Amino acid sequence: MNAEHGPSFTRRAHPAPVAPNVRATMLEDPGFGRVFTDHMATIRWTEERGWCDAEIRAREPFLLDPAAAVLHYAQEIFEGLKAYRLSDGGVALFRPEQNARRFRASAERLAMPALPEAAFLKSIEQLVHADAEWVPGGDGSLYLRPFMFAAEPFLGVRPAAEYLYVVIASPVGAYFKGGKKAVTVWLSDDYTRAAPGGTGAAKCGGNYAASLVAQAEAIKHGCDQVVFLDAAERKWVEELGGMNVFLVYDDGSLKTPPLSGTILPGVTRDAIITLAKADGRTVREERFTFDQWKAEAQSGRVRESFACGTAAVVTPIGEIKAANGGFVVGNGGGGEVAEALRAKLVGIQRGDVPDAHGWVRRIL
Ligand SMILES: Cc1ncc(COP(=O)(O)O)c(C=O)c1O
Repeated sequence: MNAEHGPSFTRRAHPAPVAPNVRATMLEDPGFGRVFTDHMATIRWTEERGWCDAEIRAREPFLLDPAAAVLHYAQEIFEGLKAYRLSDGGVALFRPEQNARRFRASAERLAMPALPEAAFLKSIEQLVHADAEWVPGGDGSLYLRPFMFAAEPFLGVRPAAEYLYVVIASPVGAYFKGGKKAVTVWLSDDYTRAAPGGTGAAKCGGNYAASLVAQAEAIKHGCDQVVFLDAAERKWVEELGGMNVFLVYDDGSLKTPPLSGTILPGVTRDAIITLAKADGRTVREERFTFDQWKAEAQSGRVRESFACGTAAVVTPIGEIKAANGGFVVGNGGGGEVAEALRAKLVGIQRGDVPDAHGWVRRIL
C-alpha cells in the first residue's frame, strides 16, 4: 500500500457488461439507489496482511460466512458522495477528501482499521473510470457508496480481525420522488437517533437501522422525513434521518445545530456554511429547541427552513408535523435563500459556477 498515492488496483473487467442500449434505458429514469453499474472496487484488510488485494472487478454477490461478525454485531460503516457530469462532458467529484476523512473517523469510532485517505480516493476514481459510461447527464449523477464491514467468522464480541472495504456505484435522479419543491417532516417524540457518547457522528449502518421505525412513522403521517430531537432533554433539534437542518431568519442570517457529537458532520452542511458566509450572511452554529423553531416560524422571524445532504442537495422544509401540533414555515413552499444556495452549490458541482473554494476534483 502506497500511503501517498493509494494502492495499485488489479483491474478485472466485467466479462459481460450491460449492453449500451440497455444501459441507456436504465439511465432514463433511474430513481434513487436501484440501478447499479457493472463494477465495484474492493480492498481487504486482515491482521496479518493489513490492506491488501485492491481490485476493480465485476459487481457480484459476496460469499459471506454465516458467522461473519457484521451479521451479528453490526460492525459496518459507509459513505455517500456523487460523481457529476460537468457541462463540458467531463466528470468531477465534490470534496471527496471530506468523505475520506469522515470514513476514517467512522472507522475509529467503530474500532475498525482506518483506510488511508489516498486509498479511499483512488478506489473511487478507479471505479468511476471503469464505469464512466454510467455517469448520467442532465440533473442525474453517479451516487458512490463506499462501505466497510467486519468479515471475520467469529462470534466473540470484540473488534474483528478481517474486513472488506467496497465501493459500489448507482446512477441516480432526484432523491425525493417527483423532485418535490418542499418536503414535510415528522417530529419523532418516541425515538431518538443518537445519544451523547454514542455513534451519532459516525456514519454507521446501526444508526440508520435504529432510525427506520421513526422514518416509517413519518411516512405513516404523510411526511417525507423524520426530524430527531436530542436524547438527553428531548427538546433540541438535531437533524433529519438523512440530512442536516438550517433555519433562515428575516435578517438573512442562518442557524444550524452545532456539531455536538450526536449529529453527522455533513459535507453539504459545511459547504452551505462556507457559501452563506462568503455571501456576507451570518451563520450561527447554535442549538435551538423545537418550540423555538415553531414560535419563530409562526412569528415570521424564521422565514425559511431547509434540509441538506449529498443525496437531495438542498431541500426546503415546508411543514413540520408533530403529535402535539405542527407548523408551516413561510408559505410552505420553500424560499429564495434556500433556492439561491442550492443553485450556487449545484452550479459549482457541475462546473457552471466558479469553484472559489477548490471543492471540485475533476477525474475525467
Ligand atoms: C444522518 C445524516 N445527516 C446528515 C447527512 C448529510 O451529510 P452529507 O452532506 O455529507 O451528505 C446525511 C447524509 O449523508 C445523513 O445520513
